[in-house]
Amino acid sequence: MKALLNLSALFIAAGAAAAGISDSGFVSEKAAHAASQYRGHLAVIDSIGTFVNPRTVNPDGSTWYVPVDDWCSGFFPGSLWYLGELTGEGEWKRRAADYTETLDSAQYLTWHHDVGFIIGSSYLNGYRLGGKKEYMSAVVNAAKSLSTRFRPGAGVIQSWNVDKGWQSERGWACPVIIDNMMNLEILFEATRATGDSTYYNIAVSHANTTMAHHFRTNFSCYHVVDYDPATGEVRHRQTAQGYADESSWARGQAWALYGYTMCYRYTGNPSYLYQAVNVCDMIFSDPSMPADLVPYWDYNAPGIPAEPRDASAAACTASALYELSTYLPARGYKELADKITASLSSPAYRAEIGENSHFLLMHSVGSIPHGHEIDVPINYADYYYLEALLRKKRLDEGNKTLF
Ligand code: GLY
Repeated sequence: MKALLNLSALFIAAGAAAAGISDSGFVSEKAAHAASQYRGHLAVIDSIGTFVNPRTVNPDGSTWYVPVDDWCSGFFPGSLWYLGELTGEGEWKRRAADYTETLDSAQYLTWHHDVGFIIGSSYLNGYRLGGKKEYMSAVVNAAKSLSTRFRPGAGVIQSWNVDKGWQSERGWACPVIIDNMMNLEILFEATRATGDSTYYNIAVSHANTTMAHHFRTNFSCYHVVDYDPATGEVRHRQTAQGYADESSWARGQAWALYGYTMCYRYTGNPSYLYQAVNVCDMIFSDPSMPADLVPYWDYNAPGIPAEPRDASAAACTASALYELSTYLPARGYKELADKITASLSSPAYRAEIGENSHFLLMHSVGSIPHGHEIDVPINYADYYYLEALLRKKRLDEGNKTLF
C-alpha cells in the first residue's frame, strides 16, 4: 500500500503532459490510420493467395509469417478484431473470423504455455467482440490444454519444455516465465463459461506462487523462475530475454502489471490489485524510464541511453493501466496510459502509411540475448496498442466495462 501514497505527483505530472490526447477525435484518427495501414497488410496477404500470419520483419526486409503453434499467431487476428471494434466496419470482423479459424488446431496445443496468448487474442476476442458464442469451446479446450502443464507439487504451470531446443541447455526442471501470467485469462474464462472451478484454482495457484517467488523487494521481477516440480523449491532465478539475471527486462515488467491487473478483474482479490500497483510504482520510478514513457528493452541495459526502446512493453503497459484506472479511478492511471498512448501514436513510434511493412509501430525488441527482433515492428506491439486505443475509447465514452 505504500506505493499508493507515493505516485500521485508523478501521475498528475504525466497527465498534464499528455496534451491533445483528450481531444475528441484522437482515437478515431488513430483508428483510421491503423485501418489504413492494416489494409496494406491484408492487400499483401491477399496477393500471396493463402493465409499467412505476419509476426515481424526479418533482417532482409521480408515479413516473417508464423505457423499456428507460434506464440505470436493470435495477435494478427486479434488486431483485426480490435480494428473491427474501433472502426465499426463489419469487414474487419469477417477477416478476423477467417483468421481466427485458421488457428483451430491451437486449442489442443500442449507443448508450451502460450496457448493462452494464441487463443486469448483470437478466439476470446471473437467471442467478446464478434458475437461468436461458439468460440468459447475453443477457449475451454485451450484451458484444458494449458492445465496439462500444471505441476501441483510446485503450484505452477510449466512455461517451457526442457527436453530440446535452447531451453534444454539451461539445466531447468520446471521453468516458469513471468509472461505466463498473461495465459491465465483463458483459465478464468473457462471457469466462468463451464462452472468448473478447476481452471480458476490453477490460475490462482499460479498467480500466488508467482507473486511469492518471481518478485524482488522493489517489485521488479525475474524473467525465469525454475522450480522443482515435485516440491516447489526454487532452483534458479534467471533471465532468458533480459540483459542479466538480476536486471529488469522491460516486457516482463509489463506482463506482470497486466497479469495481476487481469487477475484482480476475475478474482476481486486485493492482493493482486496491490501487486499491480506496486509493479506500476516500480516501473515509473525506475531512473532509466525516458520522458516519453517508452522504456528501454531492459531497465538495466548497460548502454542506456544508446539502447533500443521496446514499444511492445509500452503498449502492453498502457493497456494494463487503462484497466487499472477502472479499479482505482482517482490515481491518475488513465492519464499515465494516455501519455504512453500519445507517445506511441507520435511519429517517433508510429509508422507512416505504407511504411514499416504495414505494421503500425516501430521500435520493439523480441530478444536481444538471442539476437533476434531487435528494434523492429512486432505484431504484439500493434495488438496491445490497438487494445489500449479501444480501452481508451470506451473510457472516454464513460464506459467502465472494458470486456
Ligand atoms: N512471451 C515472449 C515474449 O514476451 O517475448
